[in-house]
Amino acid sequence: MSLPNSTLDNLADHGSGVADDSVRTGAEHLWMHFTRMSTYATTPVPTIERGEGAYIWDTQGRKYLDALSGLFVVQAGHGRGELADAAAAQARKLAFFPVWSFATPPAIELADRLAALSPGDLNKVFFSTGGAEAVETAWKVAKQFFRLTGKPGKYKVISRAIAYHGTTQGALSITGVPPFKAPFEPLVPGTFRAPNTNFYRAPEPVAHDEKQFGLWAANRIEEAILQEGPDTVAAVFVEPVQYAGGCFPPPPGYFERLREICDTYDVLLVSDEVICAYGRLGTMFGAQKYDYIPDIITSAKGLTSGYSPLGATLISDRVFEPFNHGNVSFPHGYTFGGHPVSCAVALANLDLFEREDLLGNVLRNENPFRQTLEKLYDLPIVGNIRGDGFFYGIELVRDQATRETFDKADSERILRGFVSGALYEAGLYCRADDRGDPVVQVAPPLISDQAIFDEIEQKLRYVLDLAWSKI
Ligand SMILES: Cc1ncc(COP(=O)(O)O)c(C=O)c1O
Repeated sequence: MSLPNSTLDNLADHGSGVADDSVRTGAEHLWMHFTRMSTYATTPVPTIERGEGAYIWDTQGRKYLDALSGLFVVQAGHGRGELADAAAAQARKLAFFPVWSFATPPAIELADRLAALSPGDLNKVFFSTGGAEAVETAWKVAKQFFRLTGKPGKYKVISRAIAYHGTTQGALSITGVPPFKAPFEPLVPGTFRAPNTNFYRAPEPVAHDEKQFGLWAANRIEEAILQEGPDTVAAVFVEPVQYAGGCFPPPPGYFERLREICDTYDVLLVSDEVICAYGRLGTMFGAQKYDYIPDIITSAKGLTSGYSPLGATLISDRVFEPFNHGNVSFPHGYTFGGHPVSCAVALANLDLFEREDLLGNVLRNENPFRQTLEKLYDLPIVGNIRGDGFFYGIELVRDQATRETFDKADSERILRGFVSGALYEAGLYCRADDRGDPVVQVAPPLISDQAIFDEIEQKLRYVLDLAWSKI
């Protein structure tokens, strides 16, 4: 299959990527996140300077399809003047005031709006500036909730293998990716892992029936609660579709059983929706996609489509209730949490969601998107394509029939050494990830249509085909 011209142009003129001494690499002072900095000691840092719709351009003028919405953030697409205008108007009126014993009109209005949009009785909104802070907030709410309700021994958290919940020390403790934690141990004590919902790698007794597997996976969380002692466990943190490891959707019945387990042992169910909220799955919140009502939702990223940073933790009336008495307060907050500019942008973003029916666009297109990606199954390197809405992982394997994965050395050579760079050179910005088995992740802006899906498929096909020839 041939590639669009823009791709071939990129391949033709990207060159070796090695700068001569006179070229700034861009990394002289900027320490990039999760980055092997030595790579950029001599090689220019890919530098993105402009975006429009689902596309971005680098400082060399090369165009890329942003198939990851920045980092699961830019739901409404790039270059939306109305969101920039909302930020400017609020900054002119009141650039900053904290929500510490005071409020601002945009913070009040946004909290009202999120309470109305959220499932069940999640009616209190605690703002932060991003996802990890939202997770920290949720764990601290859970701990203090049990202190206030006469169960001070309940402080532990159960989360799932390979799950990513952020890098601050509490969120990192809940995270299930050991190499991210190792340099910083000891972390916050009291966190434990249960299996995730990777049906492709399900253990044999439940490998052939998704429903049975879902029950099995939920029951492993019950087992973890029982092993630790229900009187010590405060919360279970799970994503609707788990991001790290490559987009594991919940099997049928999983959340129904998990809700039941949490109710039985008086453990709070925290739905970490830092990626899955705000339309990524075609619903405002991920819990609505799978029909469960958590006690707490953590969210961030897509709330503002990235035009300003904001996180929001949504808390149920039941969990908030003991905080609403006498001289009780929740001694927690962030200077920039609920920043008025970010709240104004989030309100304009939610207006845009309604005006352009972004949820409807995802729901109408999620099957075509899946079907388009599934064409890749004819490539021998593609083992499993999984996800939901506009959120997919493509697992790469050495052998489609046996599902044999790559060893660490091959994963390093193929995924990091080739696929990542080749996708970018082919004009596709997405993510090759080896936190679990090797996957390529795609999550385009919610404005995307069939033409975008086709371009993603063609560029993936081109690069994955080349990758196979290198095995
Ligand atoms: C599920 C989940 N929780 C938390 C986080 C942390 O969010 P942030 O990077 O905004 O701190 C992320 C980030 O990707 C995430 O995917």
